Amino acid sequence: MPKTIKKLAVLTSGGDSPGMNAAIRSVVRASAYHNIECVGVYRGYEGLIEGDFKEMNARSVRGIINKGGTILKSARSKEFRTKEGRQKAFDNMVEANIDALVVIGGDGSFTGALIFNQEFDFPVMGIPGTIDNDIVGTTHTLGFDTALNTVVDAIDKIRDTASSHNRLFFVEVMGRDVGHIALNAGIAGGAEEILIPEENLGLERLVDSLNRSRKSGKTSSIVIVAEGDKIGKNIFQLKDYVDENMEGYDVRVSVLGHMQRGGSPSCFDRVLASRMGVKAVESLLEGKTNYMVGLLNSKMELTPLEKAIKGKTKINLELLRVSDIMST
Ligand code: F6P
Repeated sequence: MPKTIKKLAVLTSGGDSPGMNAAIRSVVRASAYHNIECVGVYRGYEGLIEGDFKEMNARSVRGIINKGGTILKSARSKEFRTKEGRQKAFDNMVEANIDALVVIGGDGSFTGALIFNQEFDFPVMGIPGTIDNDIVGTTHTLGFDTALNTVVDAIDKIRDTASSHNRLFFVEVMGRDVGHIALNAGIAGGAEEILIPEENLGLERLVDSLNRSRKSGKTSSIVIVAEGDKIGKNIFQLKDYVDENMEGYDVRVSVLGHMQRGGSPSCFDRVLASRMGVKAVESLLEGKTNYMVGLLNSKMELTPLEKAIKGKTKINLELLRVSDIMST
């Protein structure tokens, strides 16, 4: 028989993403709706180890659905990777009468949640929050859509100056292991080339493509580079390569960096976060544990945490083809 849940805790962990606050709000309000108590844990697993808890009610989460970042703050905890750290966290939860934990974060955060469950048989539920969209079991992670809009807005602005000066821009976007942001934002921003970690197109293909663009009458070019792309050592090396080997290009580099993780969540992310929070709370109340909630075929579905952690998201090959055709 699963244990009756009367009180749950929610935390945000790993890199923040827009929509985390909307998810916290949803978990807190769904708890209030079902008459169970809810505590917020500050600074992810660090706060769990230190017992940094705050009782939350429906009114504690007013005015945050539109805010970027996370009001609970986030951290990457080294201590939670140790057995002693997790024991402290468990002791604090027992002392505070907490029966279940909702973790909003990425795969590293879910790995911690799963180990914690296996050691202490403690109910856990994951909500995928990362701009990278690199988690199996959901077509969209929280923050991905907002980050895409931020990147597209930046590309549009860079295009203004690129075309005014007939320049070639290399624009680096986030995605240390995956190219979902690069591929989608690149298509939406009309990029001439998109370089992603999943596909090593090689320098020659890049050079050919840039030359073709120029011959076809284009005066400016934008190449979107995912930070995990493997062609060059880094984006500045790509610029050096073009400077040294291709005539007549005026090249600039723009690294968008952490601005991609900030900002007010899009409508899509707010709705997604609200749905995920409700699903997470209600699944725990139904006695489910060790799952991640996700969006699959427009529905809220559960995926075992183990599968979410181990799986690798695939790049959409159709998008790759579309991007090639669009840069003709
Ligand atoms: O949120 C994921 C991510 O955006 C990655 O794409 C990036 O490599 C990483 O975060 C950088 O995060 P931090 O600076 O917090 O280590």
